[in-house]
Amino acid sequence: MVLEGKNIMVTGGAGFIGSHLVEEYLKWGAEKVVVYDDFSSGTMENLNHIKSNRLKIIKGSVLDAILLNKAIKSEEINIIDHQAAKLEVYSGILNVKKEARVNIFGTLNVLEAAIKNKVEKVLFASSAAVYGQAKKVPQDEMHPLEPHWPYGVSKLCAERYCIQYNRLYGLNTVAFRYSIVYGPREWFGRVLTMFIKRIFLENKPPVVFGDGTQIRDYVYVKDLVRAHILAIINEKSNGEVFNISSGKGISIKDLAHLLLEISGKNLGIIFDNPKEGEVSQYQPERIRLPSELRVLVLDNRKANEILGWRPETSLRDGVIEEIKWIMANPWRWQVKPRV
Ligand SMILES: NC(=O)c1ccc[n+]([C@@H]2O[C@H](COP(=O)([O-])OP(=O)(O)OC[C@H]3O[C@@H](n4cnc5c(N)ncnc54)[C@H](O)[C@@H]3O)[C@@H](O)[C@H]2O)c1
Repeated sequence: MVLEGKNIMVTGGAGFIGSHLVEEYLKWGAEKVVVYDDFSSGTMENLNHIKSNRLKIIKGSVLDAILLNKAIKSEEINIIDHQAAKLEVYSGILNVKKEARVNIFGTLNVLEAAIKNKVEKVLFASSAAVYGQAKKVPQDEMHPLEPHWPYGVSKLCAERYCIQYNRLYGLNTVAFRYSIVYGPREWFGRVLTMFIKRIFLENKPPVVFGDGTQIRDYVYVKDLVRAHILAIINEKSNGEVFNISSGKGISIKDLAHLLLEISGKNLGIIFDNPKEGEVSQYQPERIRLPSELRVLVLDNRKANEILGWRPETSLRDGVIEEIKWIMANPWRWQVKPRV
């Protein structure tokens, strides 16, 4: 088995992406997988289905350097997959320092503890938000970095520390810039989840902001996990940054059409045009993000060339999996949207 003999810690392992990494690392033969999570947005509901005595859960914050260090040492961790973060863009604008503390200092704590305990590799969850408005499409890793929102600044800073620790201390780090990740266990708050909830759970038309020509790149969560596994086993990934994306753009209007077509319902689309930072008149819990991105499509050729990775799940197949999951667990989105 590919991960035989590896003890892997997933910070933020109780979250959406983290829980898929945990599940797959166990399937791929990891000796032990340790979830290190403060459960601020993660939940045991994401992990309860995993029945394995090779899974261990530690409740703790990446800001608690002493506990983090102790956990890495006592569990004899070989690999850290660092997913823990604050990622609500709007909340991050309202509380820049809180987000920076977790995303930057939390990452530094992970990197320091990794060196101290001779960890073999640290994988880091970065974001497309490091690029800002697209100057060319698709955006490759050499695209100018003009981060969008304080969230993008914090991710870029943490990503740069990963590279620094690779160059200065020889720590093997890999950073992944994910586009928009979706799939079962996605948390409620972003546009795809809003559309699915309205169409499939509430029989209401989806609400599109503006004219719906904003372009987005959606990558299926299980495809993303494969990139992590390939990076673990490939030394050429060390010190590198990879876009992890579908490489294909879809307009928000077409996304709404796709979901309506899958549902077979004739609900139509509501177009709404709240100002940035204001709420929708049709969906008062939904805020339009300040300085909305016009286009987000990431070029994934580097991951293909170096890791041999390519996304395999079509958007249609992936959203059907997400829909099946939420239909079976509708209470998961009976919550206030995360913004
Ligand atoms: N979901 C996406 O589309 C997307 C896109 C780009 C990047 N990312 C990055 O991927 C990672 C995972 O995102 P997600 O969508 O699974 O979010 P999520 O909120 O489901 O997962 C984040 C996890 O981190 C935990 N956490 C938060 N603060 C912590 C702390 N101080 N100490 C320990 N644990 C803490 C939360 O409890 C949660 O379990 C994040 O780093 C995020 O920035 C996500």
